[in-house]
Amino acid sequence: MLMENMGLCLDDRPDEGVFRVHRRVFTDPEIFELEQKYIFERTWIFLTIESQLPNPGDFITTWIGRTPILVTRDAKGKLNAFSNVCRHKGSVVQRADKGNAKYHVCNYHGWAYDPTGKIVDVKEHKAGQYSPAFDAAEHNLEPLAKLESYNGIVFGSMSPNVPPLDEYLGEIRFFLDLVMEQGPKGMEFVPGRAAYTFQANWKMQMDNGLDSYHLGSTHASFADVIQRRRKGEGHQEARQYDWTERFRGTGGSFSFKHGHSAIWSRPNEPFKRPIFPSIEEVKKRVGTLKADWMLHGRNTIIFPNFQTADSTALLMRQFRPLSVNQTEMRVWCLAPIGEAREQRSWRLRQFEDFFNPSGFATPDDSAVYEDCHTGAAGSGFDYLDGYGRGMMVQEKGANDVAQSIGINPVTSIQGPFEQSSETWHHPPHREWRRMMEAGLAGKEPY
Ligand code: FES
Ligand SMILES: [Fe+2]
Repeated sequence: MLMENMGLCLDDRPDEGVFRVHRRVFTDPEIFELEQKYIFERTWIFLTIESQLPNPGDFITTWIGRTPILVTRDAKGKLNAFSNVCRHKGSVVQRADKGNAKYHVCNYHGWAYDPTGKIVDVKEHKAGQYSPAFDAAEHNLEPLAKLESYNGIVFGSMSPNVPPLDEYLGEIRFFLDLVMEQGPKGMEFVPGRAAYTFQANWKMQMDNGLDSYHLGSTHASFADVIQRRRKGEGHQEARQYDWTERFRGTGGSFSFKHGHSAIWSRPNEPFKRPIFPSIEEVKKRVGTLKADWMLHGRNTIIFPNFQTADSTALLMRQFRPLSVNQTEMRVWCLAPIGEAREQRSWRLRQFEDFFNPSGFATPDDSAVYEDCHTGAAGSGFDYLDGYGRGMMVQEKGANDVAQSIGINPVTSIQGPFEQSSETWHHPPHREWRRMMEAGLAGKEPY
């Protein structure tokens, strides 16, 4: 029933103040299959940041939905992206996460590709007695339909029918600038990355990445530790924020076109941020307004599966759907290129304290995602009601805060941080339904 009528997946009646999501959206394997086709293969997906591939021959591997992707920098310095799938029998070609390679050689039968995706060797071609129908030159890696960067963040699309990346990102670019312009030489991933899986649907992370409401309950043990640290106990090097103070502050959110959202909170203990010692340099380079906003707490969701967070640490996260009830999370701690040693170690202590898989947040979050998945997979009531906080204070268009930073969101909210609105959930779910409906109707989404 839901399959024919995606409208039933969302009970979205803005005039009546109702927004609810059907729990099968999180648990139905058929819906999961359709998401691959109608969302992941039809829109822009985060791939990497350009500074991960500074030199000719550098590469990274990643995923668009279930498709393995290879991103390379070729000898001319150009970025390329392909399905990381061998044209012989479909093996993954490049198995490493990242590296530098003159050739990408398939481990199965040894076909080799250069960083422009060109096939340069069909092993023992001449001895192979191929029929004239086999043209080796027709077996280059399959390029992605679209590849573009915004401020050093690289996105790709398997569909040629996406809007230009600038237009797709739209007004949320302001928040991406705040992430990517913190360092005078740009930003980089701190070497290494964390990856882990949780046994729940990918949209649990889509929902939770901007969820402030759960902090006091899910992460109560972290709040306890912070309190004890305040008395001088334990690991002081992390210089974590006092969350009690943060809850007393002001915050808000914006929703944007194409399913993106951002939340923010006023700077609380800005001197605890690793860029604080460099803030005068930052101000000179990007202006006082942007520098001040770099000290605000900010999280974004770029639909469908990319997030930035600058709260207890600065990071990027991507959550990859493996199946309806399994998701892989990949997390990168982000830092200015050439950052001073002291600031870098401070940043790492903050990152590992809360967001690292062994930190205070991740195990707690994964546990509640799995609890939600277990609950939603059972039977009983149909609709989940966790989308209603803040509805009564939501403004259409730009509020004062949006105007002060020169952006034009679809909706804005401002209020006490503890109000922790849930209305920013609405854009990704509405975009999800829009794309699914377009797919089922046999139409392109854009
Ligand atoms: S599958 Fe790659 S060379 Fe055979
Ligand atoms: Fe959390």
